[in-house]
Amino acid sequence: MPLRKTANSYLRRLTGYEIRKYRPPVRKPKPAPKPQPVAKPLPPQPPTLHDFTKLSVMLEVSPTAFLEALGWPADEVAKVADEFDEVSERLDQRYSQTETVFPPRWGVEQSTGLTLYGLVRLLQPSVVVETGVADGRSSFMTLSALERNGHGMLHSFDVRAEAGNLVRGHAQWNLTISDAKDPRRSFTEAIEKLDTIDLFLHDSDHGYPNQMFEYESTWPKIPVDGILASDDVDLTKAYVDFVTRTQQRPHFLFDRRKILGAVRKQEVDTD
Ligand SMILES: C[S@@+](CC[C@H](N)C(=O)[O-])C[C@H]1O[C@@H](n2cnc3c(N)ncnc32)[C@H](O)[C@@H]1O
Repeated sequence: MPLRKTANSYLRRLTGYEIRKYRPPVRKPKPAPKPQPVAKPLPPQPPTLHDFTKLSVMLEVSPTAFLEALGWPADEVAKVADEFDEVSERLDQRYSQTETVFPPRWGVEQSTGLTLYGLVRLLQPSVVVETGVADGRSSFMTLSALERNGHGMLHSFDVRAEAGNLVRGHAQWNLTISDAKDPRRSFTEAIEKLDTIDLFLHDSDHGYPNQMFEYESTWPKIPVDGILASDDVDLTKAYVDFVTRTQQRPHFLFDRRKILGAVRKQEVDTD
């Protein structure tokens, strides 16, 4: 008989108790904590009016005041603004002769159009890049100015093959239709081939990531005094964030339904 059994028979008789092999209590596994409801991240917030006022000396509603704020003398601005009536008439004529396919509201508005024309006349760029062509309203303004300058190329990017009917065939125009599933690839490849971009205008996909991508990819190519412009800067904070990060002084043109931002690149002392 094993020793424990013998001892137990004596103990039981004497005390009513016996020795048992120690077995540690079995712990029940703790129930997994109930998943807490995850707070949904807030959708990206558009800029506030204060974002514009804190960055800009004055918010502009007049294209000529806007061009002067960007550094051009009033008499030069007035001269190019005077040319604009003729450009508008030619554009109206072009509309009457052209089959347009995009919603008219997608085109740049009147004051933005004059500003764009004026910018190209005053800056005398060799290379202008724009994203977002649609029927080609902004392209028409830019090309009219380049034509009058007598030099310079406009490189435009869109994702739809039918873009650009208003300016199709223009000798100073180079249109790239990017793959809609990966528009960044052709844009990046084309930008790499350009030595400089004197003027960039964003007017394509107005989501924050795409706006920021386009500003970041073109900025290193823009020389001092060149222009980074963007339509619809009121839709996301990308432009406000970008010019804040790069320590630039932007100007804002409040057109009828949209806000145009433009900055004339300045060297920043990073010490
Ligand atoms: C607001 S419209 C452009 C209007 C034009 N600037 C004008 O004044 O007539 C936007 C255009 O961007 C194009 N688009 C959308 N996403 C794009 C992208 N990632 N790259 C280039 N173009 C894009 C659309 O096909 C559309 O034609």
